[in-house]
Amino acid sequence: MTDAKLSARNVSVFYGATRAIDDVSMDITRDEVVAFIGPSGCGKSTFLRTLNRMNDTVANARVEGTILLDGEDVYAPAMDVVELRARVGMVFQKPNPFAKSIYANVAYGPSIHGLARHRDDMDRIVEDALRRAGLWDEVKDRLDASGTTLSGGQQQRLCIARAIAVDPEVILMDEPCSALDPIATARIEELIHELRGRYAIVIVTHNMQQAARVSQRTAFFNLGRLVEFGATSDIFTNPVEERTKDYITGRYG
Ligand SMILES: Nc1ncnc2c1ncn2[C@@H]1O[C@H](COP(=O)(O)OP(=O)(O)OP(=O)(O)O)[C@@H](O)[C@H]1O
Ligand SMILES: [Mg+2]
Repeated sequence: MTDAKLSARNVSVFYGATRAIDDVSMDITRDEVVAFIGPSGCGKSTFLRTLNRMNDTVANARVEGTILLDGEDVYAPAMDVVELRARVGMVFQKPNPFAKSIYANVAYGPSIHGLARHRDDMDRIVEDALRRAGLWDEVKDRLDASGTTLSGGQQQRLCIARAIAVDPEVILMDEPCSALDPIATARIEELIHELRGRYAIVIVTHNMQQAARVSQRTAFFNLGRLVEFGATSDIFTNPVEERTKDYITGRYG
């Protein structure tokens, strides 16, 4: 094996009889940020969701092939899916804080996973996650306020704090900035820089500049296939495939 944190081998995903992902293989290492780009409907979210079995919740979705997390089969019957989703956390396009306090949003995962023995431990975990998510100073005086009272950008950082509170190994982000203004977007991008190295990060984005800014490697998907995967600088300046070139130069997609 390589030093892959996540390894996909010949992965295909079907919705009923329709194939949305076609024979995708890739490795993601622990210290990198990988961007997924490609036209709408090409399967980026579908593939991302295979990595922590979020597709299990989609009634007619079926996954073929193998996903390994540290060499361990994610789809093995013995895999505990709740634990898997703590190890491989997810941040969605639309911030989705629970209708609970800011504190409770962050404490939820650690409490399910028994990470805190005492209230003091939990206070420390919550503060640490909010600090790492760059939100602590803005919320420290109103931890009891509902998470839904925060601005969109703050809610998204709260969701990131919630994901990192359980000390995951991988964070999957599906267009995490698409509902945010440029300032909130810059905060999230800064955050990704700060988190890099601590977690493997996969980010789906339609923003080419964002992919170029935050990622070390970029995967271009089209029509369910992984067309090209390489160093971000190569993908954006010197792609091998014609279809990649067409997409990044805006000729379609
Ligand atoms: N729950 C579902 N049931 C049936 N088909 C689905 C379902 N979810 C996605 N699809 C189909 O699978 C294909 C890939 O969709 P997916 O959402 O993965 O694309 P995407 O690359 O993330 O697109 P976007 O950039 O618009 O978010 C599309 O054709 C879509 O219509
Ligand atoms: Mg999508």
